[in-house]
Amino acid sequence: MSNLSPEEAARLHPETLTLSHGFDPFLSEGAVKPPMFLTSTFAFRKSEDGKRFFAWMRGEGGAPTGKHQAGLIYSRFNNPNLEIFEDRMAMWEGMKGACSFSSGMAAISTAILATHAPGDEMIVCAPLYGGTETFMRGFLAKFGIKCHFINAGIGASEAARALLSPVTRSIFIESPANPNNRLTDIAAMKQLASAHARRDGGAVLIMVDNTMAGPVFSKPAKCGADVVLYSATKFIGGHSDIVGGVALADDIKLLKAINGLRNSLGGMPNPHTAWLLTRSLETLKIRAETAAQNAQRCAEFLAAHPQVRAVGFLGLLKAGDPDFEIYRKQHSGPGSLISVNIRGGEQQAFAFLDHLKIIKLAVSLGSTESLAQHPAAMTHSGLTPEAKRACGVTDDLVRISIGIENAADLLWDLGQALEHV
Ligand SMILES: Cc1ncc(COP(=O)(O)O)c(C=O)c1O
Repeated sequence: MSNLSPEEAARLHPETLTLSHGFDPFLSEGAVKPPMFLTSTFAFRKSEDGKRFFAWMRGEGGAPTGKHQAGLIYSRFNNPNLEIFEDRMAMWEGMKGACSFSSGMAAISTAILATHAPGDEMIVCAPLYGGTETFMRGFLAKFGIKCHFINAGIGASEAARALLSPVTRSIFIESPANPNNRLTDIAAMKQLASAHARRDGGAVLIMVDNTMAGPVFSKPAKCGADVVLYSATKFIGGHSDIVGGVALADDIKLLKAINGLRNSLGGMPNPHTAWLLTRSLETLKIRAETAAQNAQRCAEFLAAHPQVRAVGFLGLLKAGDPDFEIYRKQHSGPGSLISVNIRGGEQQAFAFLDHLKIIKLAVSLGSTESLAQHPAAMTHSGLTPEAKRACGVTDDLVRISIGIENAADLLWDLGQALEHV
């Protein structure tokens, strides 16, 4: 811990706190940065300590207090590197706690399984990440959890209202949606959920996968999200060199349920990954802001290019556009994902992709380097033709994730590749 009082810390910003929050150098030989705790297990000073730590982990008795009483047991349950990353993520998000995972899919699947039971129903805004949809349509259906899919966007809350039932357990939102950048009004969904009575008296949870916006430009908890999920592989890790995930919640009971199932299934990250994620958080804001500024220039350039039919980018929304009011409410910046429709079809889109020299032809997003891919043939190739049509995954569509390169170099690359279309 630092010398800051809680009142002083409350006035500071995440980019300041992320350099010190949750780590006391003087518990680690004065090391300014957290060392990597590459250990699978932790020694107890006394048997009584081990007994108390296990009781605390089971939810019995208070948290261990005092020097050398961190309650560390075994790295599948807890480890300093995981805990520092989790504390800093909770601080970034303005939520009570976080649970780290070995991938975004581990976070999403564990959070859903920990909060749903057979017979429950989910209302899911589509399109959403293909892995999440496959998990819902295949695995959850097999375990008696039914998912109703509705279209993301301004009409989503009305569509959800019609589907709410006495066994609805959650509304799952990915906003902006992938790959069409459609926005869903989280606060409107929360209002709907709060007014709804479940048969067992429980709450209808709002679960938001905030991977596409990232923690800098959107804080779903402020709009009413109960559970916020991330693929930390994207903006949080930010260098295309780690796979990781996070689930966050304000309700301690929810957090404990997610954490308990993670500990049982074993989907935690290893200490090295957690250390790298913690290190990446230090540059999260400057990476996200630089990428967003670059993306704004690239989107404007593409929108004015004769070989381009249409551009989807949050920074191009104007008053009067269907999503503009949601954007103003939910986002403090446009992020760095652009969808571009190249005039022609697959052949022209491929010609554009194959001639890019700086922007790499690869799936994923939110990294330091720019990446481009063809959703219809790659990330969304598993969708049915109707589902592709419904979410605008056309053969002429290219998705670009803009990085932190020099903006003029990116504009040159886009321009020279478009000459080959
Ligand atoms: C929006 C979104 N959610 C979740 C995931 C899954 O994350 P991971 O690949 O870290 O498991 C992805 C991956 O691309 C994604 O784009």
